[in-house]
Amino acid sequence: MICLFLTLFSYLLRPGWTGVNERTFIAVKPDGVQRRLVGEIVRRFEKKGFKLVGLKLTQASEELLKEHYWDLRSKPFFGSLISYMSSGPVVAMVWQGLDVVKTARKMLGETNPADSLPGTIRGDYCVEVGRNVIHGSDSVESAQKEISLWFRQHELQWWEDSSKDWIY
Ligand code: RTP
Ligand code: MG
Repeated sequence: MICLFLTLFSYLLRPGWTGVNERTFIAVKPDGVQRRLVGEIVRRFEKKGFKLVGLKLTQASEELLKEHYWDLRSKPFFGSLISYMSSGPVVAMVWQGLDVVKTARKMLGETNPADSLPGTIRGDYCVEVGRNVIHGSDSVESAQKEISLWFRQHELQWWEDSSKDWIY
């Protein structure tokens, strides 16, 4: 019993999993890069108070994208989703902070921009589900998988956030 508790405790305390150390994977999709939305999207996450721990402009391979969207492989739009996502570079990012996975999804809006409220990224900057400018992990577990799929450990930075005492 104690052993089970200790295992669970150390699992919960793994960096990036809980509390202010929670991390999410965000990607500005190829349409967002083409439409010069990178700065605006980064600005929103910075101003919210989240901490940037990884960022790169990268051309994703079809192999990586198929793995990333593996859960959607049986959907009729899977093929067009992969060609959309591989049509140009994406800006891959890791953001950290309290409840960042859930909050980032709220900041993104709904999958279909038509259902997204003004004030959200998809509500403000796009109109069609197949060109919805941004990706965000849908759970802490997906975030962990996606971060390790898109980033090597050395690409994630540890840095002291001087504003943390004003945010938490
Ligand atoms: P994402 O993974 O990209 O953050 O989007 P999401 O969670 O809001 O939605 P998800 O169900 O995971 O779908 C992934 C992406 O597939 C495209 N899609 N097209 N044609 C369609 O009906 C349709 N449905 C989804 C979107 O680009 C969506 O973001
Ligand atoms: Mg998704």
